[in-house]
Amino acid sequence: MTENNVFVECQDLIKIYADEKNRVRVPALRGLEMKVLKGEISLVVGPSGSGKSTLLNILAGNLKPSAGIVIVGDTDIAKFTRAQMVDYRRRRVGVVWQLPQMNLVWELSASQNIQVPMRILGLTREERMKRTKELLEEVELLDRAHHKPTQLSGGEIQRISLAVALANHPELVVLDEPTGELDSQTSEKIVAFFEKINKDLGVTMILATHDRRLMAKGYRTMLLVDGRITSVRRGFADESNIPVYSDAFGALQIPISLRETFKSREDILLSRENEEVFKLHVPKLEDE
Ligand SMILES: Nc1ncnc2c1ncn2[C@@H]1O[C@H](COP(=O)(O)OP(=O)(O)O)[C@@H](O)[C@H]1O
Ligand SMILES: [Mg+2]
Repeated sequence: MTENNVFVECQDLIKIYADEKNRVRVPALRGLEMKVLKGEISLVVGPSGSGKSTLLNILAGNLKPSAGIVIVGDTDIAKFTRAQMVDYRRRRVGVVWQLPQMNLVWELSASQNIQVPMRILGLTREERMKRTKELLEEVELLDRAHHKPTQLSGGEIQRISLAVALANHPELVVLDEPTGELDSQTSEKIVAFFEKINKDLGVTMILATHDRRLMAKGYRTMLLVDGRITSVRRGFADESNIPVYSDAFGALQIPISLRETFKSREDILLSRENEEVFKLHVPKLEDE
């Protein structure tokens, strides 16, 4: 991985929510480190509650982190003022959420929905029409331009949502479980669209997903557990080679499947086999 290929980089990223009702603080991201490569589709996978939506909301400019660095392109968006955040959301990032009603305005047609982000930037009618046609062609729904969301299928809605997200030529698109509401056949098709758009436009895409089919595709996949990235891999790992992640402090993050075995132990030894191969020696616990 060449460093100059990195488009998004998070360092020491912390988000603590204040749960006013129960008067507690909920740590959602705990010193997360992440790198996303330019022009690629990257996946963020992890159990429910691991912090996927929090991370994506931060990247989408909807949420301020409690601490840490969030570089997108060449700017640290964690340092943005409110006005800079608004501008970032309008011009530089596109978002697709899991629920269709969060992506589209229900009273507007597909074409009108796609124009919303362009209207906000004050584009002329002519400019809007040209771009809308391009985008409808890109998602292959030119014939649905005047349909309202209620007249579209779930898959078509997510394709229009993607067109809305792409309207103002963002450098980054974040998608939070975009196939979560779709049946497997439809989700397969949508993924083909993500790939096509990624290739055609070279846009960097970050997808949070539970979708096993997506994980099998060989995209760079980051496993998020309890608010930290614990491993990075492409596609599925085989059983005998389990990916671990070494963070900036040299701490090894162990995958969730091995967590019980490794939990808070001081007796683990790392022995060097040769240049490339190290072995972990984990003594059996007394009460096992
Ligand atoms: N607005 C909020 N207020 C308080 N806690 C929250 C809020 N949003 C999320 N959380 C908590 O933060 C953690 C991470 O949530 P989330 O980012 O939604 O995870 P995921 O998308 O992986 O399911 C969870 O413990 C969740 O309950
Ligand atoms: Mg979520």
